[in-house]
Amino acid sequence: YKIAVLAGGWSDEREISLQSGKACEKALRSAGFENVDFLDVAADDFVTSLANGGYDVAFVAMHGRYGEDGCIQGMLEIMHIPYTFSGVLASATGTEKEVAKSIYRSAGIPVPEGVDVACDAEIDDETAKKLVEQLGLPIFVKPAANGSSYGVTRVTKAGEIAAAVKKAGAEGDRVLVESCIEGTEISVPVIGNEDARALPIIEIVTGADFYDSKVKYEPSALHHVIPARLPEGPYKKAQELAVRAHKALGCLGASRSDFIVKADGTPVILETNTIPGMTESSLLPDSARHDGIEFPQLCRMFVEFALE
Ligand code: DAL
Ligand code: MG
Repeated sequence: YKIAVLAGGWSDEREISLQSGKACEKALRSAGFENVDFLDVAADDFVTSLANGGYDVAFVAMHGRYGEDGCIQGMLEIMHIPYTFSGVLASATGTEKEVAKSIYRSAGIPVPEGVDVACDAEIDDETAKKLVEQLGLPIFVKPAANGSSYGVTRVTKAGEIAAAVKKAGAEGDRVLVESCIEGTEISVPVIGNEDARALPIIEIVTGADFYDSKVKYEPSALHHVIPARLPEGPYKKAQELAVRAHKALGCLGASRSDFIVKADGTPVILETNTIPGMTESSLLPDSARHDGIEFPQLCRMFVEFALE
């Protein structure tokens, strides 16, 4: 097979995507694929390189806007090039957190309480007070469509909401204002198409206020524990809900859903990443390794899922 690894692009997560792409390129080679090209989607000649390359499959190692939101997937559909991971609709739905939330709700997956507001919404004192009455404190304010925690603020005073909405609003059209769920932060990878199954759960352990982008990409500040230290009931439940989210959104190949497990054992879903980080030490590949799947083999499986 001739494979194009697509990475980079223009999103906030460009650098992370380049790292994912480089790691996947290397892994695909060691899995025995000899014909692998690395294409930066933001390069001037990207479209012609892709169109003229004679590729059998595109390995999409992109995160965030244009890469994880259905845009590149639509282009690949039109070009009739099979590609890894989710299609147009699941990618778009997974990216728009408030749309994803309505799907989780109808699939019976618990979601945090919250409201979504326009990016240019004016939050006056009265509105801020009402939000605090409804959601309590602290409150999370986040762009509805972004990854890696860019533009997210954890607000502890009503007076901070307006500025947080402004900051999140700079990242996109809609802003989510959500109550902060206390509990154990976990991430649940799922791999496969129709036969999707959950991998071992990752527990996120951090000293910071929340798992923000700085912590995420500075490994020294972050520890994760696999398998997550949860009682058997909540552990199984979270895996079941992650597979349910994968199927409800219509994900293919892989997904990684983030949850908070409350003290009573209920997992509450925060989001589903339709193209999780894919460096060798990223969460999903690390979990797969605990399941006996080394990174090259994992990348080979993603190619196979794409061609199923
Ligand atoms: N959005 C980043 C890459 C992740 O979820 O792994
Ligand atoms: Mg994300």
